[in-house]
Amino acid sequence: MGKKLVIGVLASGRGTNLQSIINSIEEERLDVEIGIVISDKADAKALSRAEDHGLKQQCIRPSEFDNIKEYEAEMIKVLEENNVELVVMAGFMRILSSYFIQYYSNQIMNIHPSLLPSFPGTDAQKQALEYGVKVSGCTVHFADEGIDSGPIIIQSAVPVLEDDTVTSLSKRILAEEHRLYPKAIQLYAENKLRIRAGKVEII
Ligand code: GRF
Repeated sequence: MGKKLVIGVLASGRGTNLQSIINSIEEERLDVEIGIVISDKADAKALSRAEDHGLKQQCIRPSEFDNIKEYEAEMIKVLEENNVELVVMAGFMRILSSYFIQYYSNQIMNIHPSLLPSFPGTDAQKQALEYGVKVSGCTVHFADEGIDSGPIIIQSAVPVLEDDTVTSLSKRILAEEHRLYPKAIQLYAENKLRIRAGKVEII
């Protein structure tokens, strides 16, 4: 058996996507190793989820550094010390600078709760409801220097119902996120993703 891909997960909040990645690994649907979970928030539930599963976790607070570059340099140092080859953003509420993005060029994934390129940024589900789309969903993409831009890896659609609220739509989308993210990471681990002319080909 070959060496497993080592991923590093960045999360700021409740960490349900992290949990779905952990579950997928434990249930042997995802053949990677989590090298470290990093949060910018000490009270992120994602950190305790990691701890509960015996994973390495660390809080790196931006406020402890003089500037963003030093903060990101520390993140890179910790990711490297833990041999991370793919950075997985799972509800990480910070925008990474071009320094970090270029350092891990095409090695950072993000998940977003809309069918990109529609509704990037915050409150994607609210944006979808306000626009009146009949279908929404989620997108896993490689991160580039824009906000929720970057080559799309896989997407999944869900219906938007007439009586949907932000809560009910978010819940329906989140269930799909939990299915989709492990799948995208597994495709990367199997070396099945190629980026050509800004588009991802699944080979
Ligand atoms: C998800 O909806 C994800 O798409 C977005 O942030 C949310 C994170 O949720 N980027 P969780 O922390 O994984 O539960």
